Amino acid sequence: MIDYRSFVDAKQGLVDRRIFTDREVYEMELEKIFARCWCYLAHESQIPNPGDFVSAYIGEDPVLVVRDSRGKINAFLNTCRHRGMRVCRADQGNAAAFTCTYHGWTYGNDGRLVGVPGYKEYYYEELDMEQWGLVPVAQVDSYHGFIFGTFDAEAPSLLDYLGDMAWYMDTMFNWSEGGTEVVGGVHKWVIPCNWKFAADNFQGDSYHFPLTHISAIKVGFGGGAARRAEQDTNRGRGTGTSVYPGFGHGTTVQPAPPTAGDPAVNAYLQSTFPQVKDRLGELKAGRAWNIHGGIFPNFSYLGAHSHPTIRVWHPRGPDKIEVWSWGFRDKAAPEDVKEAWRLDLIWTFCMSGVFEQDDGENWDQCTVSSAGTVGRRYPFNFQLGLGHERRDEDLPGRISSSPSETNQIGFYDFWADLMSSERWTDVLAKQGNKSKMESRS
Ligand code: FES
Ligand SMILES: [Fe+2]
Repeated sequence: MIDYRSFVDAKQGLVDRRIFTDREVYEMELEKIFARCWCYLAHESQIPNPGDFVSAYIGEDPVLVVRDSRGKINAFLNTCRHRGMRVCRADQGNAAAFTCTYHGWTYGNDGRLVGVPGYKEYYYEELDMEQWGLVPVAQVDSYHGFIFGTFDAEAPSLLDYLGDMAWYMDTMFNWSEGGTEVVGGVHKWVIPCNWKFAADNFQGDSYHFPLTHISAIKVGFGGGAARRAEQDTNRGRGTGTSVYPGFGHGTTVQPAPPTAGDPAVNAYLQSTFPQVKDRLGELKAGRAWNIHGGIFPNFSYLGAHSHPTIRVWHPRGPDKIEVWSWGFRDKAAPEDVKEAWRLDLIWTFCMSGVFEQDDGENWDQCTVSSAGTVGRRYPFNFQLGLGHERRDEDLPGRISSSPSETNQIGFYDFWADLMSSERWTDVLAKQGNKSKMESRS
């Protein structure tokens, strides 16, 4: 039996390469992580009206997210209870009911089985239709309009799962009364890499930025903010603060006010910042401006002020991911600012984006080289900043200067706790014991 806990040595900052390439580990991740954690599904702004739906995935399970005719948001396994056909084959739309295209079983937008061809003649009215509705996702909830779901009824509530990460998400998604909206349509592409490379990069890998992206920065992508970040990192001045809020999440924050490369966006940021500060408070808006982050396991986002994108790294085997990526934006922003954000993403972070391609190349090659017979014997080094973490009297979570690998080692430590635990109660006990030990030290 595999000892999953032994793959991650959080004290020494070492992670075994086999967790990025091994098929058996991957199959167990689908069970122990994706079938138990809160996974991102959709944003409420994508399904404003009764009957609106979008397709999603939890791990490799297709999921249908739908606002039913009474306005309630539900999520179901997108598979027919008869013989498994995908019930909804569209990415998004509006429907009162979903009819399976194989034999015609029909489900209401609340998941109930409402129609079966030949119910009288061939089933002799003996099929118990109440028992054969769509399989619901056990818990569905949202935060700032971001809808998450878990297949595990025993998982902690979404707010408990987000924990301190929720506090940091405000400077990304809660600037103004109108909140955030997601731009319609999803960009999808495939990268031959393990899903954790992408997730851990967005958790807080500020270390790679000035080197991996140097060509793009030199020719002006990302504007002055990117150039400053590159120069600051190279001069050893760091780029802000890494935060590990617990439960495998991670983020990097900087002092405000935020800046962006585009002049129209910059003017909007500066002119609205006083109101944002009133709304969020001096501490949060002033010291904890969120520039990127990730919610465990596979939901990541980038700065609302500069490259506003959210994405899910859908696992497709140990060495493949399907990226689903959307733009998002402050709903109250004027149209020219929204358009500037949209165009920025096309240049930077989407399948045509220069930064995106730099990142994908790294993750691809890390996966290939970690699969080698000899190469996989050597662990990864996550010792950047190890032992220099601290508590801050104002900022929640475990803090360290950025760049550091505090967030990533937290991510893998939580991964190991989940993989080595049968129940959520065991995971919570392990995590609780760790935070008690940390607060004593
Ligand atoms: S598989 Fe859906 S009706 Fe038969
Ligand atoms: Fe990057």
